[in-house]
Amino acid sequence: MSEHLIGLLLGAEEDWPRAFEELVHRMGPVRYGGETHDVRAERLTIEPFNLRSTPRTDLVIDRLAHWYYHPREWLKKVALMDDVYLLNSPFTFQSMEKHSAYCALMRLGMHVPETVLVPYKNPLDNVRWAYTSGRYNAPFDLAAVARDVGYPMFMKPFDGGAWRGVSMVRDEAELHRSYDESGEMLMHLQAAVDGFEVFARALTIGPETMVMNFRPDQPMHERYAVSHDFLSPAVGAETRTIAQTVNAFFRWEFNSCEMLVKDGVVYPIDYANACPDVAVTSLHYYFPWAMKSLLKWSVYCAVSGRRARTQVDTGPWFDIADTDASYDAKLADYQRLSDDYFEVEKYRDFVGTALPHVDEMVLEWVTSPSFDAILVDTVRSTYPPHEHERFLAHFRGLTGLWARDEAALAG
Ligand SMILES: Nc1ncnc2c1ncn2[C@@H]1O[C@H](COP(=O)(O)OP(=O)(O)OP(=O)(O)O)[C@@H](O)[C@H]1O
Ligand SMILES: [Mg+2]
Repeated sequence: MSEHLIGLLLGAEEDWPRAFEELVHRMGPVRYGGETHDVRAERLTIEPFNLRSTPRTDLVIDRLAHWYYHPREWLKKVALMDDVYLLNSPFTFQSMEKHSAYCALMRLGMHVPETVLVPYKNPLDNVRWAYTSGRYNAPFDLAAVARDVGYPMFMKPFDGGAWRGVSMVRDEAELHRSYDESGEMLMHLQAAVDGFEVFARALTIGPETMVMNFRPDQPMHERYAVSHDFLSPAVGAETRTIAQTVNAFFRWEFNSCEMLVKDGVVYPIDYANACPDVAVTSLHYYFPWAMKSLLKWSVYCAVSGRRARTQVDTGPWFDIADTDASYDAKLADYQRLSDDYFEVEKYRDFVGTALPHVDEMVLEWVTSPSFDAILVDTVRSTYPPHEHERFLAHFRGLTGLWARDEAALAG
């Protein structure tokens, strides 16, 4: 029997970790390569560590490193020294944030809206900065820069998340106001995709992608619409390829990608989310799919001994990008590279032979009292008491709908 530990580095979330732990437990031992593999999940604690110590984990699902340095440095240590597999690796998420993602996708030929990076509004709190900025910061005409980008536009931090510092700018007065408020944040000006038809938000875990119909103007629990053919098959495939390309390119394996579709053109606007939202209160119908995908991919990586790689290899991507081939031909090549990166064939074979029972097991779990207990506890800890009943009915309804759809699919 070989043993594998999946470590969870968690912040304030309770819902999905509980779901994930329960699924790992229900899954039981896995047969692969003529051996039996015992997989366990455990929440990791933050404590002093010797740089030469040996970690117990094969794989870590990280939700902390983007804002908490101690676990981030531990992750780097176990990646560099012990080949621990990370979803996601701070090596790529620290050095390659939103800004790098825009750059990479532009070179790959995607329709990233016109984007300009402007210098800080306020000098950084650093004694040397006054001299540097006085001597080398070139004066610039913000209004003229903005006119070239065109109104309306979005001003947003180069590395942002959770709407921090994001504003829509419709005219010069708003431009100056937003820039004054940006303070010590480094900002992009990005042309708005105005009047888009669909906001497609793709959640990708390993090679598994779900493209969802997202409505940013709705309250959190209603942002994801349950709809299955809101994109044409061609545009649906394109959004999937873009999401997987981003992930394979940067080696981000648990990420969400936001794309706006207008007149049949797909505009990627945000696709570097180190800690994508997988709360049951936002994903509802899609939550079982997300948990199942996280289970399959993390178990695949841990059990098959998939090799972790900390560095991005841009070469093969740019070899395709820099040719005269059409956009569609490039997309097909990117899909091939990302299928290679995620070992799609080997993975599908693994799921079919080592995890044949997982679909049925997840369905059984979603209709069980223990899934309902997660819903009850999550609703209680998320909403005020007078809303409990309404929200519980809402989430029971949507996850129940998933279970019926899934049962119908299974025949
Ligand atoms: N170029 C754009 N065109 C149209 N809408 C945009 C554009 N850029 C951003 N937005 C809108 O602003 C929102 C926030 O922008 P963005 O996703 O870049 O920031 P964020 O901090 O990552 O926010 P979130 O955590 O909600 O994803 C987007 O979800 C979208 O609704
Ligand atoms: Mg976003």
